Order: sequence, then C-alpha cells, then structure tokens
Amino acid sequence: MQNIIINDVSYEVEDDVNILEACRKADIFIPSLCYHPLIGCTCNDESCSTSAFKNIEDENIIKSEINASGSICCNLCLIDIEFDGKHYITRSCNTIARTGMIIKTETPEVVRKRKLAIEALWARCPEVEILKELSKNLGVDEVPFSQGNNNCIQCGLCIAACRDIVMVDALSFSGEGINRKAALKEPINCIGCGYCYTVCPTGAINPEKIIMNKFRNLPGNKRLCRFAIMELIPFAFCSNSFRCFECEVDQRYRIFLPVHPVLIARASSNEKVAKYLRENH
Ligand code: SF4
Ligand code: SF4
Ligand code: FES
Repeated sequence: MQNIIINDVSYEVEDDVNILEACRKADIFIPSLCYHPLIGCTCNDESCSTSAFKNIEDENIIKSEINASGSICCNLCLIDIEFDGKHYITRSCNTIARTGMIIKTETPEVVRKRKLAIEALWARCPEVEILKELSKNLGVDEVPFSQGNNNCIQCGLCIAACRDIVMVDALSFSGEGINRKAALKEPINCIGCGYCYTVCPTGAINPEKIIMNKFRNLPGNKRLCRFAIMELIPFAFCSNSFRCFECEVDQRYRIFLPVHPVLIARASSNEKVAKYLRENH
C-alpha cells in the first residue's frame, strides 16, 4: 500500500494505482479525456512514463504534440506534486501514486494550465459538446481561436481499444494537421462490435454504418450475425439484413449484460479484460 496526501487529506492507496484513479476513488474530480480505466494511458511516451516525472510546460500543452504512439495527450488531468524534494506539474493519469507524495488538484497554476489545454482542444474541435462543457467549467467561455471542425481530439483511445481489447486492430489515424482523425484502415477488417464508440470521449468514431453496409453486401452464406463474429453465440446467420437495432439478439445483449458484449467475448482470451472484469464486476 502507498500513503499519499491529496488536498491536505491522507489516503492509503493500492500499489501501482495512478493518481487519477486514486482521486476518482476518493471522489475528487479531475477532468480527463484521453484515459480509460481498461485501456490506460494511450500515449506510450517514455518521457511521460510512470517512472519519470515530467514537468508539463505551457509550450507542451499548446502545441499538443503527437506522442510516441501517434496520439495526443489531452493534458486536462494535470496536478501539482511535491515528491522527493522536487516539485512538478504533471499528468495524473500517467503517474503512479507513491508514498510521500503531496498532491494538490486545484492550484491556480494547475487551473491555468488546464485552461490552456481545454482551449487547444476546443479550438480544434469547436462542435464537441463535452469540450464546450469542460471549457465552461474551467471558465473559458468562447472558442479562443478556431482551427477546424474535426470532432476527433486524436486521443487514440479507439485505436488502442480495437487493437488491445477487441484484438482486431481495425483503426488508425488518417489525414494531416487539423484534418487528422481516427478512421477504419483499408482493407476493412472491423467486426462491427461498436466498442470503439463506447470509449471515444467525443463520439467522433462510429464505424457501424460502414461495416453494416459491407455486411449487407456479402453473399448469403457469409452473412454471419455480428455476435457470432464476436464469438459470443455459436455460428448463426443474420436473418434481419443487419438491422441490429430491430433485432432481439442485439437488444438482449445491450439490456442484460452489465458490460459491453465484446468484453464478455474477449474475457477468455485477453487477460487484461479478464482482470478488469474480475476487479470491477
Ligand atoms: S467496431 Fe470495428 S473498429 Fe470499432 S472496436 Fe469493433 S472491430 Fe474495432
Ligand atoms: S475518434 Fe474518439 S477515441 Fe478515437 S482518437 Fe478520436 S477522439 Fe479519440
Ligand atoms: S487524461 Fe488526458 S493526459 Fe491524462
């Protein structure tokens, strides 16, 4: 166990828990967009690793640079840490809690940097509701400078989810500059599970329409139900022309399962998913 202080209160947290998770458990709100508890932090960036603290400078925030895994860190989860005689403002999603840390989540400098971060995100994606909401909460009332109209903040969660959780690897980034966004790779190998949509913080990715059209054009003996493709039910053909929203199989899975169906399907072959379900459900 690790003993840390958050906002002047002592907490005992489990080993290998990041500060964002520790704060969530303690009901302390920290804004975050590019972290998911099952996927983790997608940046995969050595200089932003759990072993090396990094002081996040204004310049890093405003530029929103593409990191080692091709995604962009949202930089909203910044916190202030004093540890081992040093002082940092760094990302809570990617910093493991260690005994002796003194953490503050709302210092004026942390809030100022979060404002810079939300301005950079909102300028790139001015129509995204969650960005409007977070901007308002941080006291930013207008899109500071408009760069584009792309709803993808390039966090990479959908790409990591499809690759590491669903184990299909159907997505990658495409396009350049302000038009860069996550999209289906060619040739399309998406199985239509829809998990990418559930982890996307902005609702920017939803390959369902594309993939259902592709399935509809398949010959009769290849029109497998997508839950059969996910290996949740035995071999079964779709008799409903892939109108899943009208299908009893689809509705039952959505209503009665406590988690997304593809997690149940992958629990036997993906240890990361199995561990997550054991610990959380
Ligand atoms: S819907 Fe397609 S792209 Fe999205 S996670 Fe499932 S397989 Fe991957
Ligand atoms: S589509 Fe969504 S999850 Fe994927 S990179 Fe863009 S914002 Fe992130
Ligand atoms: S949640 Fe985005 S950088 Fe931590």
